[in-house]
Amino acid sequence: MFLGIDIGSGGTKVILLNKEGKMIESCEVSYSFDVPKEGWTEHDPEEWWLAVKKALKTLFIHNDPSFVEAIGVTGQMHSSVLLDANGEVIRKAILWNDQRTEKECKEVLETIGEERFRSLTMNTLFPGFTLPKIIWLKRNEPEAYKRIATIMMPKDFINYKLTGVMATEVTDASGTGIFDVYNRKWNKDLIHELGFNPEWFPPVFESIDVIGEIGSTAARAIGLKEGIPVVAGAADNAAAAIGNGVFNENKGLISVGTSGVVLVPINNRPDKELLTKTNSSLHIFCHALPNTWYAMGVTLTAGESLKWFRKAFELAEDYEELILKAKDVKAGANGLIFTPYLSGERTPHNDSTARGGFNGMNLTHRKGDFVRAVLEGVSYSLKDCHELIKNIASPESFVITGGAIKSEIWSQILSDVIGVKLKKSARFEGPAIGAAILAGMGIGFFREPDEVTNGADDVIITPSTDHYLLYKESFHKYQNLYKQLSSK
Ligand code: XUL
Repeated sequence: MFLGIDIGSGGTKVILLNKEGKMIESCEVSYSFDVPKEGWTEHDPEEWWLAVKKALKTLFIHNDPSFVEAIGVTGQMHSSVLLDANGEVIRKAILWNDQRTEKECKEVLETIGEERFRSLTMNTLFPGFTLPKIIWLKRNEPEAYKRIATIMMPKDFINYKLTGVMATEVTDASGTGIFDVYNRKWNKDLIHELGFNPEWFPPVFESIDVIGEIGSTAARAIGLKEGIPVVAGAADNAAAAIGNGVFNENKGLISVGTSGVVLVPINNRPDKELLTKTNSSLHIFCHALPNTWYAMGVTLTAGESLKWFRKAFELAEDYEELILKAKDVKAGANGLIFTPYLSGERTPHNDSTARGGFNGMNLTHRKGDFVRAVLEGVSYSLKDCHELIKNIASPESFVITGGAIKSEIWSQILSDVIGVKLKKSARFEGPAIGAAILAGMGIGFFREPDEVTNGADDVIITPSTDHYLLYKESFHKYQNLYKQLSSK
């Protein structure tokens, strides 16, 4: 059996995958990240480790831990875990959706030159990336900055807790802004030019490389035996793609979790010209298999929009009941349009100052209209990503995954808005399953990520032509709202 661990933004999931690729059981420990100020998001890495221990305890009530042969960890990208020389956490991690570093991004792009920066890293710089956060820390928390000995991502921190090994791997390093995605290694020139200490950046592995084994302290803490191999693992989006068999150019992934992404694999080393074909708000990152990459559009507040809506208006309904309110509302939410920029936006605007809104409200609108507008608004933002991804690849099909689209209503809206056939994955725990598959590959048990399937038939969702045409008009209005309200 293989153990997969996913350090998500809203909770940590642990799953057991058997050798036929079937998920035996999953457990989740939920939490929320901190929002100490508008546009800021943080989380204590020690809470992630506590959640891992708690979730594993529950998982091993009915499952014998001695059958676990290898472990893979995945997690949210870009969220900077800073450790001191004793390996202690210096401060809370600044997360992937934090927007405090707009100024630092601008300055770096001006100093290095935006075109050169893109040719060094294959990406532009976003406020959520690691690089600008280091500069922000130097200016705003110099004491904490001076203590930095190692910088890593959430899943690397859990790997460190499990094995005592400080390491990262290509998929998460890709999202730091200091990584040469083309050559799959740290960019030494950039590290030097920015005055960073090269020792801050741990050794980089491929996702399926074994980086270490469960040590005695961790073994005692989580009830597993010592010596179980742990692979480097992968960033959550790469792992979700692996968990859903998305690693060739013929199949893409749309994921609606806290964030939303549209992702297509790139099988050959990305052509640098690809950069000129793309809007800079698309990400080009290393994929979790050697010699593969992917392009990705990211909307920062996807499933989180509905969570925010429920919390802000203190609604009593659970998510399922809430989404049901949208069922009887006509496509187009009776003219109500929601823009989901509650925490700024990456694709297509790269604008940390963008803010969300409901537009077109009138006296007839009721709760169901608002819920439908939220589901549609998030779908429009994913259509924005898809429109840009089309310049790179048009896969035959997209798998959709993520907790938020367990709902049939939302999945159908997504298909109608984007106008593509979607394969609804039965693997909602995609990232954790992907991490477990990487663990199986790491010890040589699986040769390909799709050697095993979950056995369940994927549900195919086909867009309705009428709704697609109607949404096309609303999408135009949605795009204009950003143009009219943007302060950029
Ligand atoms: C991707 C990104 C998010 C997080 C969410 O670049 O920032 O999708 O990985 O966990």
